Amino acid sequence: MFEEAQYFAPVATNDDGTVEVRLAASHPGFADPVYRARRNAIAALAVGYVPGTPIPTAEYTEQEHEVWAIVSRELALKHRKYATAEYQRAAARLGLPGDRIPQLQEVGDLLEPLTGFRYIPAAGLVPLRDFYGVLADGLFHSTQYIRHHSTPLYTPEPDVIHEVIGHANALASDRYAALYRLAGQAARRVESDEALEFISKVFWFTLEFGVMTDEGELRAYGAGILSSYGEIEEFRGMDIRPLDLVAMGTTHYDITKYQDVLFRADSPAHLEDVVGGFWESCDDEAVLRLIAEGRQG
Ligand SMILES: [Fe+2]
Repeated sequence: MFEEAQYFAPVATNDDGTVEVRLAASHPGFADPVYRARRNAIAALAVGYVPGTPIPTAEYTEQEHEVWAIVSRELALKHRKYATAEYQRAAARLGLPGDRIPQLQEVGDLLEPLTGFRYIPAAGLVPLRDFYGVLADGLFHSTQYIRHHSTPLYTPEPDVIHEVIGHANALASDRYAALYRLAGQAARRVESDEALEFISKVFWFTLEFGVMTDEGELRAYGAGILSSYGEIEEFRGMDIRPLDLVAMGTTHYDITKYQDVLFRADSPAHLEDVVGGFWESCDDEAVLRLIAEGRQG
């Protein structure tokens, strides 16, 4: 899931109880009443979801399954070249279907025996504290809709392709799943919004948009890069900086554009030492010290 508000279409519950997703006029599905009705129905499933119960089945059209099949095939080819070896091994052991959109229930059923993670449906933006907090419990909030079929390789918002191809493949790795859990524990430990935001930015520049030196090449492990057909071809040409907690936690990012500043870990162990070590023990005071360090430049 992406974390910033402007990226999600707002979801409203009307007076009559119906759930409505308010797509922007620029959204590829804005003028398609059939797509919009399906978006509303899928959002309603998440709004009405009772934790601990099976996730309701989302209805997709054949055209939408075809979108998944196209993107899934294209990304799998690119992953061979651009994804870390750890991510590729995790994707292979998860074994997501390539020809149809899996239900979130099914994704959790595949993941849980591997790393203990389960998916829970989200209608749209989830407050930072909830989104990160439940990672500590092995729960991942996920949108369930898919992008509009007219633009299979583009989405203005995080859809099920991002959530599942990007994140579930990573969550099938013991090493990456451990980092997600540590991020959740850190988010639970801190009390101030400032510290929470810092932790979420470190997550953004690592588990969403992280790159690392892997088998002698620059490869990605971040879900945002690995689920983006365009971004995956571009990241090696971006401004690549060394992994640095203060810089990651205080650098501003624009969710609506390709990420032009990326942070590179030297190895999986380097990522675990620096970022995992930080999340494992940080408290409000430690984070505020880092923020002050950033201000001093
Ligand atoms: Fe995400």
